[in-house]
Amino acid sequence: MTFKDWRSWKKVNPTVLLSKGHGEVHVDIHVDDRAKGTYLAATSPYPKCSRILKVQYTDETATEIEELGIMVKMPGGYDPEHNNWWYARFDATGTKVIDSGKMVTVCRTCHEQASENDYLFSEKVTAAAIK
Ligand code: HEC
Repeated sequence: MTFKDWRSWKKVNPTVLLSKGHGEVHVDIHVDDRAKGTYLAATSPYPKCSRILKVQYTDETATEIEELGIMVKMPGGYDPEHNNWWYARFDATGTKVIDSGKMVTVCRTCHEQASENDYLFSEKVTAAAIK
């Protein structure tokens, strides 16, 4: 799986966010066409094959990308106990995997806090965007 086209996905935060989840880092969040409606409405569940991506920058100028954090909604049966999400870290090009799979338990145990919105922090992010 590659994510070369992520720059064409919808960016949901108008200005770069200081992350509340990934350490003191600056991030942008992009959602593909399948995920867009659900994310912006902060509802659930996400359609199968939805792709959501966090761009993590090296600093607040948001010019240099450190890595991409990615979640993909897999078919039922992948990990039904945890809503079938696949997690990964990719390099900035979206072609080279750093780490992937449901064994990325660190990602999952924190994203579980957003279980009412299918493991995504859409509510927090969209509320911050309105402010
Ligand atoms: C300690 C908690 C925590 C951990 C660990 C964590 N996240 Fe997140 N994640 C968040 C929060 C909170 C947000 C909302 C935006 C922000 O503040 O960064 C978020 C946002 C995201 C988003 C954008 C969609 C959304 O939920 O709004 C993606 C994609 C993402 N994280 C992927 C990952 C991946 C992949 C990992 C593991 C490599 C990971 N996260 C680890 C807390 C966490």
